[in-house]
Amino acid sequence: MRVVLYTGKGGVGKTTTAAATAVCAARRGIATLVVSADAAHSLGDVLDQRLDAPEARLEPQAVTENLHALEVDARAAMERHWGRVRDYLISLFRYQGIEEVVAEELALLPGAEELATLLAVEELASSGRFDFVIVDCAPTGSTLRLVTLPDVADGTLRWLLRLQKVLSSVVTPLARSLVPAPLPGAEVFRDADNLLYKKLHGLRKRLSSADTSVRLVVTPERMVIDEARRAHTDLALFDVGCDAIVMNRLLPEAACAEAFFQDWGAVQEERCREVEALFEPLPVLRAPLQDDEVVGLERLARQGEALFAEAEPDATLCKAPRPRYTRSKEGYRLSMSLPGASADDLDVVKMEDELVVTTASRRRAIALPRRIAALDLAGARLDRGRLVVRFAVAPS
Ligand SMILES: Nc1ncnc2c1ncn2[C@@H]1O[C@H](COP(=O)(O)OP(=O)(O)OP(=O)(O)O)[C@@H](O)[C@H]1O
Ligand SMILES: [Mg+2]
Repeated sequence: MRVVLYTGKGGVGKTTTAAATAVCAARRGIATLVVSADAAHSLGDVLDQRLDAPEARLEPQAVTENLHALEVDARAAMERHWGRVRDYLISLFRYQGIEEVVAEELALLPGAEELATLLAVEELASSGRFDFVIVDCAPTGSTLRLVTLPDVADGTLRWLLRLQKVLSSVVTPLARSLVPAPLPGAEVFRDADNLLYKKLHGLRKRLSSADTSVRLVVTPERMVIDEARRAHTDLALFDVGCDAIVMNRLLPEAACAEAFFQDWGAVQEERCREVEALFEPLPVLRAPLQDDEVVGLERLARQGEALFAEAEPDATLCKAPRPRYTRSKEGYRLSMSLPGASADDLDVVKMEDELVVTTASRRRAIALPRRIAALDLAGARLDRGRLVVRFAVAPS
């Protein structure tokens, strides 16, 4: 099962590219699902089909042969994946004298809605109904938050569960009435356990799988490219591989030959070369600027054929190297891809059994295998886009 997520700066053409990829794949005979995980859905508009009917809240709609589409309803996804845990949190906040509406807002822990959306995508991806799932994501910042959420939620939920397990094991039913807060029932534990151990881990596994890739959509503009570069580094930090860059809205050659556009054409060519060099070894898929909005199946099919003239839309277009532990003379070595990171912004520390890596904009705590957690951090360096961390046996 192949999953491709499209992201990039606002307005660069993520939804268009996701839909064009989907139409192209479906026409080439691949059972395809395209999902919008952006709260501001526009997938239905681009496909020129209503996807917001009540029965379409979590159930994909047939669009054409081999193609289904869905705009995930975040509220419905919350109910499905977060339901009783959220109800418990609401009752806890209510107990503390917080008004119901405010309690409901608070119980939407930061990012919970986005996480539920992604869990809905994961449910569909693992259903076996589709061979290719394409996700139209929100602009870069939110997407990064989205893919890093399983790690963050994992920590929070683990803490909550530990606390509650302790509480429920020391508090007898008789004492329950004396404890100054409602205690969660067994079903809340079960749901939280299920959420944590099955769903979040399943999602993390899916995101780090070699069959899942992000494609970054850019236009030939400096700010757009800079944002994509940061995203590329941060995604690698969270072990989510990118397999291509999509360069959208390129002036066609015929237009560049016109006197008025000649300079424009030269700048554009320079930017394309720059992008190829910056993101090497990722391939750069080029999509022309169309003479009108890219809406409807025919226009999308044309855009898809331009993008995938030389590749299959569901292929893994570049294999990202995974983090690797190897034995060394002094102990172990961890090597992970961190393209675009600069040594000035990088910080690496070991805290108990975790390695905490901080780049210019993100921090990730990487759980270390037990054997390595027992060693000392001996050094870290950047080597041609890879972070190499050395672990050594502690001097006795
Ligand atoms: N190659 C193209 N040629 C012409 N128009 C395009 C092209 N790509 C995208 N557009 C148009 O640009 C507009 C924005 O595209 P789209 O909605 O795909 O961007 P987005 O990145 O998904 O935006 P948002 O960040 O708001 O979700 C749309 O009107 C779309 O039809
Ligand atoms: Mg969009």
